[in-house]
Amino acid sequence: PMAEYVRVVEVGPRDGLQNEARQVPAAVKIELIERLGRAGLRTIEATSFVSPKWVPQMADAAEVLAGLQRAPGVSYPVLVPNLQGLERARQAGVTDEIAVFTAASDAFNRRNINASVDESLERLAPVVAQALAAGLRVRCYVSTALGCPYQGAVPLDEVVRVTRAVADMGCYEISLGDTVGVGTARAAREMYRACADAVGHERLAVHFHDTYGQALANVYACLEAGARVVDASVGGLGGCPYAQGASGNLATEDLVYMLHGLGCSTGIDLDALVDTAQWISGVLERPPASRLARARAR
Ligand code: HMG
Ligand code: MG
Repeated sequence: PMAEYVRVVEVGPRDGLQNEARQVPAAVKIELIERLGRAGLRTIEATSFVSPKWVPQMADAAEVLAGLQRAPGVSYPVLVPNLQGLERARQAGVTDEIAVFTAASDAFNRRNINASVDESLERLAPVVAQALAAGLRVRCYVSTALGCPYQGAVPLDEVVRVTRAVADMGCYEISLGDTVGVGTARAAREMYRACADAVGHERLAVHFHDTYGQALANVYACLEAGARVVDASVGGLGGCPYAQGASGNLATEDLVYMLHGLGCSTGIDLDALVDTAQWISGVLERPPASRLARARAR
């Protein structure tokens, strides 16, 4: 049966904005995060402490966190690639949650984090261990779960192996990423089921980019298979800088519209969310990528 409550993890301020060519002011990032909190999102990935040489847009991570008015009951995970990132995050006052990341494909990992899959797991182990010892919860992304832009097909066994490895490290939730958005519903369902068999539904989230327009269908297939946590990006912002051609995540408002229609509660105020999508798209001077924000354009 489908979950009665689906937790929506908002990744727009990080996954959505990291690919913007023009520097987005920290004040805009802060306002975006605060608006999302007021719209009812309870997990909002706020920024990332990756190398600013690799992703200049996220160089202001500490400034964003410092300016943020935190809402009660909201978690603000930050993306962390290595021990240096963990140290920066802790110095910036992160006390609740971080997100680490790897992929099921060597070719993608080399371009994204300059490491093979196995090297990345070796690098993650002390990051996760130190974060847990400091009382932080750790989420982990497994990218290229339905295909790699450089190597093509990714064996399901490899997705399961990496998922199990990061679950064993102690990550409370593993977000299965279709980084380039090439997957379709049957493959998504099979991939989700295989990972759920390995680590359990309560440890999984799904994270679909919408490059080929399949994200909503893929989410639906995974919900039918028991998924309870779904990542999305307000206004459909984004794309991974190291996955050429990848578009934004599934738009949060399109996801929430479907979930409410299915009778799943989310705690999210759809009108406030659409307003936020229209506002950030205006600031970035482009039409929103979501269907809902277009349909309700004033
Ligand atoms: P590297 O060049 O191999 O690392 O990068 P390094 O350790 O040799 O460091 C190189 C330089 O960067 C050094 O500076 C370090 O100090 C500095 P230098 O000595 O040259 O002056 N450095 C840092 N500075 C600040 N913060 C840090 C940090 N680490 C090193 N944390 C590294 C390896 C992992 C650091 C790099 O490749 C990197 O930052 N990659 C991140 C790329 C990225 O952010 N990609 C997007 C996020 S992933 C994604 O979007 C997918 C996801 O949404 C899920 C999905 O869709 O599938 C999550
Ligand atoms: Mg992503």
